[in-house]
Amino acid sequence: MDNFAAGTAVPETELDAAELEVPARILPVAELHLHIEGTLQPELIFALAERNGIALPYAGLDELRERYEFTDLQSFLDLYYANMAVLQTEQDFADMTRAYLERAAAAGVRHAEIMMDPQAHLSRGIPLETCVNGVASVLATSQEEFGISTLLIAAFLRDLSEESALEVLDGLLAMNAPIAAIGLDSAEVGNPPSKFERLYAKAREAGLRLTAHAGEEGPASYIIEALDILGVERIDHGIRCMDDPDLVERLVDARTPLTVCPLSNVRLRAVDTLADHPLPAMLAAGLNVSVNSDDPAYFGGYVDDNFAQLDAVFELSDFDKARLAANSIHSSFASEERKAELLDELNGGEVAHP
Ligand code: ADE
Ligand code: ZN
Repeated sequence: MDNFAAGTAVPETELDAAELEVPARILPVAELHLHIEGTLQPELIFALAERNGIALPYAGLDELRERYEFTDLQSFLDLYYANMAVLQTEQDFADMTRAYLERAAAAGVRHAEIMMDPQAHLSRGIPLETCVNGVASVLATSQEEFGISTLLIAAFLRDLSEESALEVLDGLLAMNAPIAAIGLDSAEVGNPPSKFERLYAKAREAGLRLTAHAGEEGPASYIIEALDILGVERIDHGIRCMDDPDLVERLVDARTPLTVCPLSNVRLRAVDTLADHPLPAMLAAGLNVSVNSDDPAYFGGYVDDNFAQLDAVFELSDFDKARLAANSIHSSFASEERKAELLDELNGGEVAHP
């Protein structure tokens, strides 16, 4: 397309047919399930390691990328936590956040609810202020700079104790951290939501919104616990609800949002292949599902890549694509005013996704 960029007329016969295709419109979406530490791309890992004088246990990018073959959630978490060693200063957290927002804007993200794992940094000796202020400093100007409204979710590591989570929540509240919600992540099986009843009660009392990972690798009963014991408004992942028809009916009736991450589920072997993913069945059942990227640097794609690969495998209808986008907006913790703006933008154009 260089000839067009230079403004030179090209005889039609010389144009490749593919160049004549009008690119599909990227739908405006809200990304509701995104771990900011999971956006650290290999190149940035190496750049930050160099800046901070940290020796990485990989000779180069290729050797690091070779480790991105996961067998389950834990095999991913081991690498995900290890790579956080390069995040040392506020600037590091800011650079990571900026890189995500730039890429997310190109993916059609217009509102992002961003999880971070403060305990994974505290345990390395990085103060709360460093990680929170580093991320928040970039989120503060995101709407102006990238057209993406944002909010921050403090996620707690469910394989640590509830006492640890309560202490960190106290610290976040004491420093008046700009968090809007809490979440629950890390190794799911053996760490049921019921372990964090007091944490969620405290967060609710503090006026925070509530979400939790449940039913990613863990059973449908963890989703029920998250709803009944933690009182969450949203379930992150939730794909295992499909094992329990009564639960599906309950989630449909309550319009409970499920923030589904298809490429993540494939890479972490929650499903064998994308063709085996329950997303079409979830949509057909009337569940309130959205499409999200989880840890895009590790799982081979941002929101647009998730949509594109879903479309390639399932040939989603324009209606389903628009429904997924609308679900993401309705399911967000954004203000009603912001939701209305995003829905206007969604309804204003044709409905197609790359
Ligand atoms: N932390 C980062 N990504 C996660 C995932 N997919 N499940 C649980 N914890 C996580
Ligand atoms: Zn997640």
